[in-house]
Amino acid sequence: MANASGFFSPSVSSWRRRMQPQIGIYRSGLLSPDGFSSRVFCSSTIQGPEKLSSGASPSESRVPRLVNKGCKLVGCGSAAPTLKVSNDDLAKIVDTSDEWISVRTGIRNRRVLSGKDSLTALAVEAARKALEMARVEPDDVDLVLMCTSTPEDLFGSAPQIQKALGCKRNPLAYDITAACSGFVLGLVSAACHIRGGGFQNVLVIGADSLSRYVDWTDRGTCILFGDAAGAVLLQACDSEEDGLFSFDLHSDGDGQRHLNATVKQNEMNDVVGSNGSVLGFPPRQSSYSCIQMNGKEVFRFAVRCVPQSIQSALEKAGLPRSSIDWLLLHQANQRIIDAVATRLEVPPERVISNLANYGNTSAASIPLALDEAVRSGKVKAGHTIATAGFGAGLTWGSAIVRWG
Ligand code: ACO
Repeated sequence: MANASGFFSPSVSSWRRRMQPQIGIYRSGLLSPDGFSSRVFCSSTIQGPEKLSSGASPSESRVPRLVNKGCKLVGCGSAAPTLKVSNDDLAKIVDTSDEWISVRTGIRNRRVLSGKDSLTALAVEAARKALEMARVEPDDVDLVLMCTSTPEDLFGSAPQIQKALGCKRNPLAYDITAACSGFVLGLVSAACHIRGGGFQNVLVIGADSLSRYVDWTDRGTCILFGDAAGAVLLQACDSEEDGLFSFDLHSDGDGQRHLNATVKQNEMNDVVGSNGSVLGFPPRQSSYSCIQMNGKEVFRFAVRCVPQSIQSALEKAGLPRSSIDWLLLHQANQRIIDAVATRLEVPPERVISNLANYGNTSAASIPLALDEAVRSGKVKAGHTIATAGFGAGLTWGSAIVRWG
């Protein structure tokens, strides 16, 4: 049914025919030993520990039922830190200028976490707004996907968001790490959970605070990034109403050399005895290096791969370019956005861009821009959006979706 590069289909309607589920799946894994012979059976029931400990076994708690679902985008929200840093502010700390930054990137301001701000709190705020728009209670959320490369806990931030939202039924919550492609991967993952796993309401949050990993003395990178969070609620619906028409996902580890923030061992940390140092044990404590980027290579990669990916997703959906109401790319650089739009022949008035105000907010950039476009009335129910993320990994991917 689904594979890494999308639901192959020459047209939306034939894609729907092909999407008849073929493998039995429970939350806990593959169900059917006879593999492809059966339909998808899932549990829509979520049991908290208190319920399970009251006697019912996990398997008893699950009510098998046929799943033949679509999914649609029904809510969005966003949040950004209050501290605004302009290009002129940056010109006071590195050798740059408003003119250089705005001409080369389109960025004029960015928001940066400061003081007691937390990325998790931004993610919670964005998620709450998405739930309000969707008119879904936190208790009815059954999956939280936090797409971030900068969690505030090494083990992931999603469970903290689940807790802060007050989802009392202990829904599954986990992080997805794929840099600036994270939100698109989260969207596709959410759709797979709904279509194949029986989930009903999935929160997909994109949130990053790359300002914490920027070398603020490096004018080549520090001008680009900002912090923010955005969220959407993806909801199960009848397959006829399905709003994720196709997707196309890729990664290329070879390109990691062009963009990374790798782990490094702290130098001043031989506290735990020295007798093991010959063996290199115990290891020194580690942290992450600041972002290293070959901007020109990343630029070339984006301009080459993103149009191909969107074109591929359109072909899988059986849709012409002219069916795109909005082109919504990861907000990295206005010149990248313009070049991709030109290659796809999408006119400027159908391109969504807000990076002048926020810079590159990594996994947050797409849901943040979507939220602004929906709330300003630009994007309306029924509009078709071609969206694409790209960045470190290298990773890139696109999805053709319908809003509402
Ligand atoms: N201010 C003034 N001059 C600068 C600055 C600056 N902030 N930064 C670089 N320069 C100088 C350079 O030193 C160089 O000077 P030189 O010619 O004397 O050597 C000159 O400007 C040109 O530098 P380039 O790096 O070649 O500039 P370029 O036109 O490539 O623009 C930029 C740089 C904006 C970073 C661009 O390459 C870019 O946007 N690349 C894509 C980055 C991106 O999209 N990343 C997304 C992924 S992020 C993620 O996944 C986490």
